Amino acid sequence: MQQRMIIAGNWKMNVGPEQAGELALTLAASDATKAFLQAGGELVVCPPYLSIPIVVQRVRGSNMTVAAQNCHWEPNGAYTGEISATMLHTVGCTSTLVGHSEQRRDQRDTDQRVGARARAAARAGVQPIICLGETADEYGAGLTADVVAAQIDTIIEVAGVDSVRGALWAYEPRWAIGTGVTPTLEEIQSVHHLIRQRSRTNHGIDLPILYGGSVNGDNAAEILSLSDVNGALVGGASIQVAHFLSIVEHALHAFRAQGS
Ligand code: PGA
Repeated sequence: MQQRMIIAGNWKMNVGPEQAGELALTLAASDATKAFLQAGGELVVCPPYLSIPIVVQRVRGSNMTVAAQNCHWEPNGAYTGEISATMLHTVGCTSTLVGHSEQRRDQRDTDQRVGARARAAARAGVQPIICLGETADEYGAGLTADVVAAQIDTIIEVAGVDSVRGALWAYEPRWAIGTGVTPTLEEIQSVHHLIRQRSRTNHGIDLPILYGGSVNGDNAAEILSLSDVNGALVGGASIQVAHFLSIVEHALHAFRAQGS
């Protein structure tokens, strides 16, 4: 069975509408993107909320898709400063990150809340991309497997298995985000395997699993060739066109190698 290969660029709070529109246009027009999409790869970009409409417009017709970086757990209401999944759906967003570690760190997002966000997204017809991952201290204490398993269980318990069935997991060890440091290939493969097993055995679902945390043009080929890795969630390198397209090229090679 051919696996999926998904590359997502998380642009964080880095690109306003003008720059995001240009970036989207450049990516959509590039040969690397076209070859990857033509081979069945999936390319997703996650602009800041304000930049979503222009990016949706610029990637139209390209098969690239647009994700938000978060969504609220309610469809509407008195939640000043928030954006609902229903609104994202209206402007053409087809997926959204939930539980990104920067939200967990800065907005005190918990697994319960992440589960509620995932449920709201799925109900609005927006695919949740659910981020998991241990802190540096948890990693140091050898708790990665326990932490990730507990995150999966709580999030699915709150969201309900039906909300998660069409979702993606993104394994992002918090200490690897924006640091230039990654786990070893053996560690990435082993955590991805655990996520796959836990989802199958305890919840009866099988989701693609992206790896995120300091992915760049130099390490993408090795990471994307791991058997339980279905793609990457790329932060810093995703707003540098040459770096991001080099990751897309590596993803295409890894995808072809899987299929052969
Ligand atoms: P990074 O970020 O690639 O800059 O480490 C990944 C992410 O936050 O999704």
